[in-house]
Amino acid sequence: MTEISGHTRVYAILADPVHHVQTPQKLNALMRARGHDGVMVPVHVGAGELATVVASLKAMKTLGGFVVTVPHKTAIVALCDEVSRQAQLVGAVNCVRREADGRLVGDILDGLGFVAGMRREGFEPKGRRVLLLGAGGAANAVAFALADAGVAGLSIANRTRAKSEDLARRLSQAFPALPVDLDEPGAAAPDIVINGTSLGLAEGDPLPLDASRLTAGQIVAEVIMQPRVTALLAAAQARGCSIHYGLPMLECQLEMMGDFMGMTSPDKTPPGKT
Ligand code: ATR
Repeated sequence: MTEISGHTRVYAILADPVHHVQTPQKLNALMRARGHDGVMVPVHVGAGELATVVASLKAMKTLGGFVVTVPHKTAIVALCDEVSRQAQLVGAVNCVRREADGRLVGDILDGLGFVAGMRREGFEPKGRRVLLLGAGGAANAVAFALADAGVAGLSIANRTRAKSEDLARRLSQAFPALPVDLDEPGAAAPDIVINGTSLGLAEGDPLPLDASRLTAGQIVAEVIMQPRVTALLAAAQARGCSIHYGLPMLECQLEMMGDFMGMTSPDKTPPGKT
């Protein structure tokens, strides 16, 4: 970080709890690497205080933007002046840019980061049939980003069927040409299997799907970053699948957050600023 001065742009991450967040360290490092004069700080915001804090941030002229995480990703949507189509579809925002006139523009970058991460590792989702495990926050973001990326079809499998039905309905509304189903028995084998559930985060978790369904040549991908090799990835590898770790999603998303909030090098004009 360069010396903090009156020119330094300020960024925040709003979370509750906040002690575990690692985004500030990563985005401060990204700003340093890009030669951007800015600093990101963690801000502990309880659910009942979000609107007050956001109104204050909106009034801060040196604010570049802020990252939003658990539990605020849904509530923040209504507090933005403008949100991207992806964010509208997912119903969540995780990154907000403050324009020079104080308008707050929100986007959801985790699903887009997942797709960018797959592409960076040489896995192209366009034209592929995908089995998505899960229908929670992360799976929703990934589902809409995959639909946008042009997958050939999307099957959704989730423990709570009502949530997969709801996700399938919203996907079909937004992408009427996309074949979407609920992973019915006898469905054609997918080209890509993605774990968007939280199963695998804890040691001893059961697999999010029956490993006998994995066949050589399939791509099996994780949204979970830690552990790097989940039990699902280990099982997939043993069955001759190509595996895709969760970490590239985070790495790509951090770059996108930096671009979105205008953490550019001094000789570049940040997006939205003239
Ligand atoms: P995140 O924001 O990380 O996606 P979430 O919205 O709570 O967190 O979603 C967690 C996902 O993991 C959901 O799809 C959840 O299934 P339910 O919708 O049925 O709750 C899935 N999940 C969590 N624990 C699970 C378990 N023990 N077995 C199967 N699925 C599980």
